[in-house]
Amino acid sequence: MSEPRKILIFDTTLRDGEQSPGCSMNLAEKLEVARMLELLRVDIIEAGFPIASPGDFEAVQAIAGEIRGCTVAGLARAVDKDIERAAEAVAKSPRRRIHVFCATSEIHRTYKLKRAKEEIIRMSVEGVRQAAGYTDDVEFSPEDASRTEPEFLAEVVEAVIEAGATTVNIPDTVGYAMPKQFGDLIRYLRKNVSNIDQAVISVHCHNDLGLAVANSLTAVRAGAGQIECTINGLGERAGNAALEEIVMAMKTRRDFLDADTNIETRKIYPASRMVAAITGVHVQRNKAIVGENAFAHEAGVHQHGMLANRQTYEIMKPEDIGVPASRLVFGKHSGRHGFAERTRVLGFTLTPEQLEEAYEKFIALADKKKDIYDADIEAIIDQQIGSTMEVWRLEGLQTTAGTNAIPTATITLSKEGQSTTDAATGDGPVDAIYEAIRRITGVKLTLTDYSLRALTGGKDAQGEVTIEVAHNERKFRARGLSTDIVEASAKAYLAAVNRVLTAKNGGEKPPQP
Ligand code: KIV
Ligand code: ZN
Repeated sequence: MSEPRKILIFDTTLRDGEQSPGCSMNLAEKLEVARMLELLRVDIIEAGFPIASPGDFEAVQAIAGEIRGCTVAGLARAVDKDIERAAEAVAKSPRRRIHVFCATSEIHRTYKLKRAKEEIIRMSVEGVRQAAGYTDDVEFSPEDASRTEPEFLAEVVEAVIEAGATTVNIPDTVGYAMPKQFGDLIRYLRKNVSNIDQAVISVHCHNDLGLAVANSLTAVRAGAGQIECTINGLGERAGNAALEEIVMAMKTRRDFLDADTNIETRKIYPASRMVAAITGVHVQRNKAIVGENAFAHEAGVHQHGMLANRQTYEIMKPEDIGVPASRLVFGKHSGRHGFAERTRVLGFTLTPEQLEEAYEKFIALADKKKDIYDADIEAIIDQQIGSTMEVWRLEGLQTTAGTNAIPTATITLSKEGQSTTDAATGDGPVDAIYEAIRRITGVKLTLTDYSLRALTGGKDAQGEVTIEVAHNERKFRARGLSTDIVEASAKAYLAAVNRVLTAKNGGEKPPQP
């Protein structure tokens, strides 16, 4: 049997994923995700859009300075200052890529860029030439390629390859393409672009019609050599193609796709959990590959079949994607060493100081609840990483509420060692807390979503509150955990306040690609 084709995996969780509403991450969180992507062995990490804000620049620079197992890419529009900034941000990576993009479809040319076809080609070519002056790894994306006239698209692609692009990425920017049509487009480019063999063909599919993965895999069948995707399918609007689905489809249906990747599939589940914990965007229960029910067999007839032979109802093994055999970790007496080992298995890369701090929090939690699960450990570390950007800290909280009482909260917060106490009333205890926090911090947020769930099973489970807030047209998500759900609500709101205060552009909306 011949070797399957190796398809490069370009992960854009930290750029397209992070760009989606409420998914912004701070520097420490981005670094943690980048380390996980390196363990996952993705080929290329798109670390951000450096011109978007100083925070984005700093994150790309830090990732380029640390990650050695992957190519690190920075995104840039086809304009001088973007490309210069991207080049500066990725400079420290021995495997650096600049990803230049320019919209090509008629609707984008007319209404967004207000440029004629010739100008689009000129901008694209100049952008690629400029980027090629900084690195020999240049990617070009004709944005909205799937809605661009195919003849013009072929012209652009040929011109940018001539100018030095080594990867040409064909985005289905608005998730409009149908699989057959998208596959035909890739075949068309292979046939009609004379120098196409000098570049890798990549695809970047959005999921507006739920076809991102199908379109990407069809493109692979048609000759694409790189897929752009994100963990848990995060991304603008309905998201991007989900990395875990792309990778497992290739592994499971190698017979049909004749393609494989370099991905360490046993890190897929830990990566999914980490990204969900950090962004606060939960994975739906029935999500393919990483959802809670993905390997659960409920019906009696299925269970019977499984006992006779797992393959009756199981096309992949949970252990192949790193689902732990047992979710119960341990309790108070498990020790430092066991705890450290578990954090490593879960994919975290902690310094000895961070580990010590996390261990102390683990012991404090174990005093409150008997059994500690992976989800508890992930939450401890996530809160710790998040707290590196802490401005306000919760010192104390008291609430009164009841059928005939006016809900009241008294809260003490500290900032730079200075404590402030205030009280407020509200429609309920949580509303009263949020009002008291607003009074102390002066940060006014509009609460757009609030959800509460038990983090694990058991009556002593921690309550996890996830909220979404709006501030200056931007959305932020944050979560808080505690065995007391009122305290969890306060922590979530305060985490959102801290996110806003430490956000890139001071919480203003950054320019988007
Ligand atoms: O969806 C898109 O077209 C993009 C480009 C910047 C590649 O994200
Ligand atoms: Zn995109």
